Amino acid sequence: MLKQRKSIVGLDIGSSCIKAVELTREKYDHVVTGYAQIDVPSEAARQDAIAELMRAAHFRTRRVASAVSGKNVVFRYVAMPEMSEDRLAQAVRLEADKYIPFDVADVELDVHRLGSGQDATGKPELKVLLVAAKKSIVAEQARILGELGLQPVAVGVDGFALGNAWELGELVNPGIQEAGRTVALIDVGATKASINILRDNVSSFAREVPMGGQDLTNAIARRLGVDPAQAEALKREPGDQANVVQEATAQVLEDLGNEINLSFDFFENQFDGEVQEVWLTGGTALLPFLEESFEKIFEKRTKTWNPIEGLKVRSDNVDVEALNQQAPRLAVALGLAAAI
Ligand SMILES: Nc1ncnc2c1ncn2[C@@H]1O[C@H](COP(=O)(O)OP(=O)(O)OP(=O)(O)O)[C@@H](O)[C@H]1O
Ligand SMILES: [Mg+2]
Repeated sequence: MLKQRKSIVGLDIGSSCIKAVELTREKYDHVVTGYAQIDVPSEAARQDAIAELMRAAHFRTRRVASAVSGKNVVFRYVAMPEMSEDRLAQAVRLEADKYIPFDVADVELDVHRLGSGQDATGKPELKVLLVAAKKSIVAEQARILGELGLQPVAVGVDGFALGNAWELGELVNPGIQEAGRTVALIDVGATKASINILRDNVSSFAREVPMGGQDLTNAIARRLGVDPAQAEALKREPGDQANVVQEATAQVLEDLGNEINLSFDFFENQFDGEVQEVWLTGGTALLPFLEESFEKIFEKRTKTWNPIEGLKVRSDNVDVEALNQQAPRLAVALGLAAAI
């Protein structure tokens, strides 16, 4: 029998660490057929790091899906009159300069229909999320990947990748989750936290908050009077300094948690629904006290999310122990691959 096989590498080019997960669709299954990650000391070292990661990973495909983020990507929520999908994309493009801080000619524009609602006077309206990414950064990323002999097939954003990883989880564990829930997926990286709120499995809110693990490291360095490298090591393996580390990072976590809470408030006002549970990913989710700290701030059930759970893994090409240990950090990479 002819088996349909298609592999794709989700490449999450983080500011501190590049993560890659190869996902292969095998007729009835989604299989993780490769995984690698590598720390990036600086932006200048990024291209070489990707090359090194690709050499080490022994992926079976050169097709990659990546993402753009940071200040060259903006998210905007706008209300439009009800209209068809085709007309919506056109109408939004015509008005986009009202909403985004870049020239419309210079951006790739993505329009996500979030759902119908009513404006203050009771008139029906469409809630729309605009994602605008500077064409120049999308092109630059494609150039870098192309130079490495890779074939870029899609460029997304971290927040939506989280949503795709979540959907993949639902697909491989059917029925395990209650239908109709509203969940918030949060990826806390080194420099930013990406938020995606799913209502009954549909992405209804996405945003990035420019804070992350680096701010925790800096807080530890300041409090203990050590250099950033020592602070980073202490954060990851505090040993008998666990209490000091937790105390030193408490204020930053509180600020970040409050900022994320504002997004929950915005969502709840806009959509008249409540975020019921929160799932944490990203390198900072490896912090043992993150769940507990955030749960107190959010006053919602808050758990670390392992997006690999339930997926088959091809152990002949994957270091399964490392994969499981780093799993919460791989949601974006997995979701980028899953979107194709
Ligand atoms: N064991 C650990 N305990 C606590 N923090 C950790 C641990 N391992 C990594 N981190 C932190 O996770 C962060 C990196 O996470 P991640 O790989 O998700 O970020 P990134 O994708 O490179 O960053 P960004 O998404 O902001 O561009 C760093 O701040 C690092 O200090
Ligand atoms: Mg990241």
